[in-house]
Parts: sequence; structure tokens; C-alpha cells
Amino acid sequence: MNLGLTIWLTGLSGAGKSTIADRVAEELRERGLPVEVLDGDEVRRNLSAGLGFSKEDRDTNIRRIGYVAELLTRHGVVVLVAAISPYREVRSEMRDRIGRFLEVYVECPITVLAERDVKGLYRKALAGEIDHFTGVSDPYEAPDDPDVWIDSSVETIDESVAKVMTAIEGLARPGVAVVQPG
Ligand code: ADX
Repeated sequence: MNLGLTIWLTGLSGAGKSTIADRVAEELRERGLPVEVLDGDEVRRNLSAGLGFSKEDRDTNIRRIGYVAELLTRHGVVVLVAAISPYREVRSEMRDRIGRFLEVYVECPITVLAERDVKGLYRKALAGEIDHFTGVSDPYEAPDDPDVWIDSSVETIDESVAKVMTAIEGLARPGVAVVQPG
């Protein structure tokens, strides 16, 4: 029984995708599950080195991540993807390709992100110094009906992690029933 799964976190830069993905990964590893995290920032230093932030390059980045996620999922790994993935159509393409898939929308108002501004990018983007910065000078198409909806400006990390864990457990149960003895 293959219980591989991809949990795809989408949302603006700084919304908390990587933090939530890392915490969920930790919980799953503690339960003995094989886990991999594919993080946008890291993928862009490796597999997607050289890609920029045009729609075309972002879609290429997402398809590369989706390709790896699909292979891992097929081999029983629980994959956590943390990438802005701003375009609805390519996210939906990844869902269709991967199959066992949960979409997690990590929402956070731009005013809060600009205030936190951990990487200092919002200040630059709002000053007009970064072209095509998601949410400021480039589009973000929010999911209409995500499997998990997180608002990181009001929820604690623990609450967000718990919501994702509940969704994973909901998806795993039918598979577990199949392997019951008898
Ligand atoms: S995606 O759009 O292709 O999914 P990805 O998640 O890989 O993006 O990379 C986003 C990260 O790149 C951000 O967290 C930020 O650190 C950095 N970045 C640099 N330029 C931009 C930009 N123009 N828009 C968004 N993020 C940018």
C-alpha cells in the first residue's frame, strides 16, 4: 500500500510556508514516515538555478518541483512543497499529476508581511526596486477551495501545524483500512 502524498503549501513570500512545512515534516518524521521538503528558495539554488520570476520561469519552477514530488510520492514519501506557486492553473495541473495531494493555502495580509519583512524584500518591492514581486508588482491567484486554509496573521504555528496534520490523517485513513488483516 503506497501512502505517499504531496502537501503543497502556496502563499506569498514570508507568509510562513517553510516554517509550517518544516514543523509538519518534523512531526511526520517522529511518526517514522519518510519525508522530504522541497522549498522554493532551496530549489532555486539547485534544480531551478538560473530561473527568474516571469510567469514562464515560475511555471517551469513549479513543474520541476511537481515532477520531483510526483516521483517521491509514487515511492511512498510524504512530500512537503513550500513555494509561492502563484498561478492557479499550474497548481491544478500538479494536483492532477500527483494524485494524492493536499493544497494548503498560507494566507497573510500584505500589510502584515510588509511589517514583518524578514528578508527586506517588501520594503524594496514597495519602493519600486523589484519588478514582478508577488503581491506587490506581480499577481498571486489565491486558491478558491484549498484543503487547508491557514491565516498566519491570526493563528499560532502550532494551530496551523495541527490543521495540516488533521488533513493528512483524514487522507491516510482509507489507505490504512485497506491493509487490515483478514
Ligand atoms: S515561485 O513563484 O516560483 O513559486 P518560489 O517560492 O520558488 O517562487 O521563490 C520565492 C522566493 O524567491 C521568495 O521567498 C523570495 O525570497 C525570492 N524572490 C526574489 N524575487 C522575487 C519576486 N520577484 N517575487 C517573489 N519572490 C521573489
